[in-house]
Amino acid sequence: MLSVKHLLGIRDLTPGDIGLIFKTADNFKQVLQRPIKKVPSLRDTTVANIFFENSTRTRLSFELAEKRLGADVVNFSASGSSVSKGETLIDTVKNILAMKVDMVVMRHAASGAPWFLANHINASIINAGDGTNEHPTQALLDAYSMREQVGDLKGKHVTIVGDIMHSRVALSNIYCLNKLGAKVTIAGPPTLIPKHIELLGVEVQHNLKKALENCDVANILRIQLERQNKPLFSTLREYALHYGVDKAMLDSLGRDIVVMHPGPINRGVELSSDAADSKQSIILDQVENGVAVRMAVIYLLSGKREIE
Ligand code: CP
Repeated sequence: MLSVKHLLGIRDLTPGDIGLIFKTADNFKQVLQRPIKKVPSLRDTTVANIFFENSTRTRLSFELAEKRLGADVVNFSASGSSVSKGETLIDTVKNILAMKVDMVVMRHAASGAPWFLANHINASIINAGDGTNEHPTQALLDAYSMREQVGDLKGKHVTIVGDIMHSRVALSNIYCLNKLGAKVTIAGPPTLIPKHIELLGVEVQHNLKKALENCDVANILRIQLERQNKPLFSTLREYALHYGVDKAMLDSLGRDIVVMHPGPINRGVELSSDAADSKQSIILDQVENGVAVRMAVIYLLSGKREIE
């Protein structure tokens, strides 16, 4: 059993919770290799995917995970909904729950929106990304994918590069990697790294090559221009010159590190195409693992004990 009723953030999980999610995801990964990639475990469950922000990977991955568990699924996007007529978040969700929904997967632009909702409704909530706060299932699938490549993460060195300031993926990754005993380095220009981030137990390095030299895994994050109210570096070209990871940079390290990116990629900015599409890149493995990891999270939060 998980120690939580909702998955609001990695901050709330114990290392034991994360281990249980990974073990359950291993089972579901096997299910996903079968000709019939479905189990009827959640045939009595209805899940609502409520997305107030754009998404490709997370929304499709949750929907597939739910359908592969046999759940009934309803999808809601803020665009085209009654949100444009002034309906509040709580009213929107209470109306959806009145249709007998058991679980809510929610993405929202406001940090803390899933916490707020958890205090007002009974259904389990899974945070699919809230503002610049957390994106817990992304961190779980990232750590799961890292573990497949380099084994137990205890003592392994992960460097997270890019726009840390605006990244919910970065914060969830830091919490998750800390709980699993990995060493974490944060790399990027000072304007994109929050002050005092060392208090979270990470090292900060502003020189990209030094940050990558001793790591086992590099998780490259997107420059989130849509969340930057004022320019935080001169031009994208200059950012790419100093902090863009390309194949020449990877080759200069003298050993193969694992390259990751949560997507969507700004090709040629934080990551070049020759690095994104290289043998060292596991970006599509992350996406594949996302379905099994989300199946595990949904299954465990539903309180089920045996995989059918
Ligand atoms: N990684 C991620 O959250 O991608 P989407 O925004 O496409 O869901």
